[in-house]
Order: sequence, then structure tokens, then C-alpha cells
Amino acid sequence: MDTTVTEVAPDVYRLSTYVPDADFQFNQYLVAGAEPLLFHTGPRAMFPLVAEAVARVLPVEELRWITFGHVEADECGSMNAWLAAAPRAEVAHGAMGCVVQVGDLADRPPRPLADGEVIDVGDRRLRHIDTPHVPHGWDAGVLFEETTGTLLCGDLFTAFGAGPAVTEADVVGPALQAEDLFRATCLTPGTAPAIRALADLRPATLGLMHGPAFAGDCEQALRDLADAYDERLGAEGMRMHGAVPPPAGG
Ligand SMILES: [Fe+2]
Ligand SMILES: [Fe+2]
Repeated sequence: MDTTVTEVAPDVYRLSTYVPDADFQFNQYLVAGAEPLLFHTGPRAMFPLVAEAVARVLPVEELRWITFGHVEADECGSMNAWLAAAPRAEVAHGAMGCVVQVGDLADRPPRPLADGEVIDVGDRRLRHIDTPHVPHGWDAGVLFEETTGTLLCGDLFTAFGAGPAVTEADVVGPALQAEDLFRATCLTPGTAPAIRALADLRPATLGLMHGPAFAGDCEQALRDLADAYDERLGAEGMRMHGAVPPPAGG
């Protein structure tokens, strides 16, 4: 395995490791600046690969912010390795997640972020947006880089395959195929509205964690994804109330 590095927006780098056995990509995003920020750490076993990829862009010890979408191994498993490698780094995460998870898990006290709070890394500004349980995890959130319009959307649009670093091809269809297999999204009445609120940001680029960076019509893709989740939620409700039979084999 190796890790590719692609600048998907000015100062925003996608680090991507494809794992053939799983037919799955694991991406991190590095935002360069006076206070460099990493979004997703990768799991612990992937730390050497990701650290080498970061080092192609800037010295690892200069990292200032370690961030992620929610607490899971691929999102933040190696956070303490990064804290050890970068002496001035702090883990920054949503305030709720710091209380219930990261305050205990991280080797140094985390910096809690309020909903809407901005981390100014120099020329780039990353706004933290709480998205509890979207796509999953009480502590879930995304980062929106305001100057380039890049939405670091984590597990939203998760798909299989190697794929290109950047695409304008459909990302909704592949995401729904993976969703119907994984059932990874927490389907609630709040899921689609939270995704539509992200569409209202009108991002120029979506930074997927498991897929390409999407440079097509991001607002429409988010609205289509939200509509598809609403449809699935409605179908689940119909089944629960016995209005329709369960799916074959399910
Ligand atoms: Fe996840
Ligand atoms: Fe993930």
C-alpha cells in the first residue's frame, strides 16, 4: 500500500491510502498554513504511511491541530501518535465529543469546539459544524474551509473502490450502494435536514473520507443524498408499521 497526496483545493491536500483487500480508501485531509491542521488521523497501523505523506507537504512536527469527524479507529485511532510526533499539536473536537470521548482518550487535553467555532490556521478558516448522529456517532461533526469552500464531510458519501483523487462524476449512486450494504448511516428524522443544512453552505468541493474529492455540483449532491435518506427512513417506517413486507431475505 502507498499513500497518494493530491492538492484538491489551494492548501488543502488529500492523503489517500487504498486497501485492496477491503476495496476501500482511507483519506485524511491536511490544511497547510501557519497552524497546519489534519482532518482524520487514520488507524494506528496506518500512522507510518500517513506521517510519511504529511511529510511530503510539511514537517510533521509543525502540525498544530488534529481533528476528525467522529471517534472511530479510522478517524482518530492514531491521535496519540500524532500528539507525540508534533509537540505543539492539540486535538480539537466538538465539545460534546470532548466530554464523552476525547477528554479520556487523548494523551493531552483536547480543545473543545463550539458549534460554528472557527479554527483560523493562517490563510484558511475551518468552521466546525456539529452534526450529531450524522452520518453516525453522537460526537459527529464536519469542518468547512470557508476561503476555498471545501467541506470536509468525513463519512458522508462513503463508497467502495479506488477511484480518482478528484472527480465530477456521480458520488451519490456509489454512496447509496455502499449504504445499502453497510447500513452505516443513522437514519433519523434529523438526518436529511442536517445534510440539507450542509448543502446550504454551497461548497465548491466535498472532501470524502472514503471516496474521491468531489468537484461537481456539491449542493445538489448533498440534497440528493438527503432525499435518498429520507426515502429510506420513510420505507423503514412503513415496514415498522406493517404497511409493507420486509425486504427479501431481511
Ligand atoms: Fe465512521
Ligand atoms: Fe470513516
